[in-house]
Amino acid sequence: MARIYSRITGTGAALPARAVSNGELARDLAKRGVETSDEWIVARTGIRQRYLAEEGLTTTELGARAAEAALAASGAPASSVDLIVVATSTPDHIFPSTACLIQARLGIAGGAAFDVQAVCSGFVYGMTVADALIRTGVYRRALVIGAELFSRILDWNDRTTCVLFGDGAGAVVLEAANEPGVLASRLHADGSQAQILCTAGRIAQGGVQGDPFLRMDGQAVFKLAVGVLDSSAREVLADAGMDATQIDWLIPHQANVRILNATAKKLGLSEDKVVVTVERHGNTSAASVPLALDDAVRAGRIRRGQHLMLQGVGGGFTWGSVLVRF
Ligand code: UT7
Repeated sequence: MARIYSRITGTGAALPARAVSNGELARDLAKRGVETSDEWIVARTGIRQRYLAEEGLTTTELGARAAEAALAASGAPASSVDLIVVATSTPDHIFPSTACLIQARLGIAGGAAFDVQAVCSGFVYGMTVADALIRTGVYRRALVIGAELFSRILDWNDRTTCVLFGDGAGAVVLEAANEPGVLASRLHADGSQAQILCTAGRIAQGGVQGDPFLRMDGQAVFKLAVGVLDSSAREVLADAGMDATQIDWLIPHQANVRILNATAKKLGLSEDKVVVTVERHGNTSAASVPLALDDAVRAGRIRRGQHLMLQGVGGGFTWGSVLVRF
């Protein structure tokens, strides 16, 4: 029997309606006595604006819109989807999963639907799981979605985090194919570093117990991120029998333009091979990689047959890379 691989046949994205510039955010924060500036945010992160969800918008709705766009791009009907994997750390409920809610919202019956929780590495975790399930031959067409409303867990009195994140969703249709597709992928975690990036609160006894906000030791995360993105890229290149010169586009998690450029430099890639959307989207956690991918596909920059290195890194601590022939 011929080997089964998985292949991306469509990409999609969805953003809330409201883009908030650094200047506008700085003015809003000043009213609370929180001091920041466009200059600081641009110089330290490269972020110029982020999208912030209106009240009432849900992770399910944003994820479903991205999925609809990906299905339209692939030409596949929603009814043919038999697997939905949603990467999110900001689900609408503790349960049921966002994936089940998106399944219902898209009118899909049957198949499997579940969330993966690997924070900013969520999309590469989701891709790896969906690829593995498709290669079993049991599932034929998956939606892999990264959807986040990080604005809901930000402490607007903490300038070291609240200027960094934004809301959004990205999705791909990943389906069974005779040729790859996904060439190699590797995932990692180091739970001993859990405290450097976390939202530690939990629901118990009818309320939130503990801290409901995102907390981050930015410098610790920065240092770890640069090291693991480089080693993880080299690991999947070795698995695929390729070298860095064969990467057409590096699409790392969009947290900080300094991390993106440092990773490209370590891999010996020029900066024009890195897809950068962090200046427009901010850090959208699990949504950042599929948002960046869709942006570059729709701009006509990424073309069929090119090699893409998708990379995640974030809370857990987690990281991983997926090498794709588009
Ligand atoms: O999504 C998961 C992955 N996340 C990441 O990869 C994030 C990784 N970390 C980073 O990107 C960077 O560490 C940050 C952007 C978070 C911070 O940049 P930094 O260059 O590491 O700055 P810092 O934390 O060393 O802070 C420098 C100064 C401090 O003031 P002092 O102590 O030097 O007087 C901060 O208090 O900048 C101050 N500061 C700010 N100033 C204006 C911190 N936040 C702000 C702010 N506006 N928003």
